[in-house]
Amino acid sequence: MTANSTLLRELPADLDRERLPRHVAVIMDGNGRWAKRQGLPRIMGHRRGVDTLKDMLRCCKDWGIKALTAYAFSTENWGRPLEEVDFLMTLFERVLRQELREMMAEDVRIRFVGNLSALPPSLRAEIERSMIETQHNQGIEFSVATNYGGRQEIVQACRAIATQVQQGLIQPEDIDESLFEQHLYTRGVCDPDLLIRTSGEMRISNFLLWQMAYAEIYITDTMWPDFDRAEFHRALCAYQQRDRRFGRVK
Ligand code: FPP
Repeated sequence: MTANSTLLRELPADLDRERLPRHVAVIMDGNGRWAKRQGLPRIMGHRRGVDTLKDMLRCCKDWGIKALTAYAFSTENWGRPLEEVDFLMTLFERVLRQELREMMAEDVRIRFVGNLSALPPSLRAEIERSMIETQHNQGIEFSVATNYGGRQEIVQACRAIATQVQQGLIQPEDIDESLFEQHLYTRGVCDPDLLIRTSGEMRISNFLLWQMAYAEIYITDTMWPDFDRAEFHRALCAYQQRDRRFGRVK
């Protein structure tokens, strides 16, 4: 944690508590470049990225934000070098094992969203354990998108609904937005109000395509391992300056 972060335990006075995003989503980009700039292997960037994520989660809780979703591994990330993929899978598993007690103490409910069936069995077991143990926690909803792809999520929802129609359980006219949402990995979690992407890339990279329909997007050049509470404060100030019209005229 940086000096700036320690100064920002409380919600900064220039933020309006009533107009905070209920749900913040983050694309944690730039770990590899951060490491390269320090002369370190890429994996060290991911390791530092975990520290940033932990502080971001704590910060959301400290400041009264009720949901955080982090894009940890996309369906496209399998195309990375095998050693990096292996490192990430091992890292997820280790972090989950080490942090479960802390998540219970901090009243965090963790969920994983994505196609979990393709993950290594030992990681799947940790995921299941953490989701079950934290399922009644209410301090903050923490979702981790792992082997997640927005298009894949939409296709699997269509398939599930088509099967119900085929079995005569529902009629095509019953399909509406609310029924569709019930078949997404994120069911039960409100849509993100704010998407933050680090490292200056201006894409959403197949992340929460359905859920992001009206999210405000904030992009910073800062690499994810350097993203701190001062940066988050700037993102929230920018969010509170936005005029959210949801397609309407005021
Ligand atoms: C993107 O940076 C980062 C990732 C693909 C991995 C992020 C994962 C973590 C921070 C670990 C989270 C852990 C848990 C348990 C939730 P990049 O590698 O694409 O960076 P680059 O664009 O500079 O190459």
